[in-house]
Amino acid sequence: MDLLEAATAVRENAYAPYSNFKVGAAIRSASGVVYSGCNVENVAYPEGTCAEAGAIAAMVAAGETELTEVLVIADSPTPTPPCGGCRQKLVEFGGPEVKLTMVTSGGITQETTLADILPGKFVAAHMANS
Ligand code: THU
Repeated sequence: MDLLEAATAVRENAYAPYSNFKVGAAIRSASGVVYSGCNVENVAYPEGTCAEAGAIAAMVAAGETELTEVLVIADSPTPTPPCGGCRQKLVEFGGPEVKLTMVTSGGITQETTLADILPGKFVAAHMANS
């Protein structure tokens, strides 16, 4: 399945009554399956979850823990990047070479990699003395 198609479709289901900013994310797992997620807000604002987190949760719930490609779509003037927390969530399951595509509803597309969006990431080795 096409990542853009999946993210565009799931974005329609975003629950974003507080920001009115709907986001769709799709990830391809190592097996080739595409998982998608949308943002789910909450009246207690910090309890809301991002689209990327939803897609990752769907992948893990299906029994997979490796992602090979990510796409995020939102109706923004320029392509929307994953927030800081989602960058850390993505690198938990994807290597530095994983391609991240960010797309606006108008079709403006920007490509980067997980390495580029999260330099100096926190990894398990930092806990080696513990
Ligand atoms: N949001 C995402 O779902 N993913 C991103 O990459 C950026 C931000 C959501 C969180 C919140 O529901 C809304 O966008 C506004 O911050």
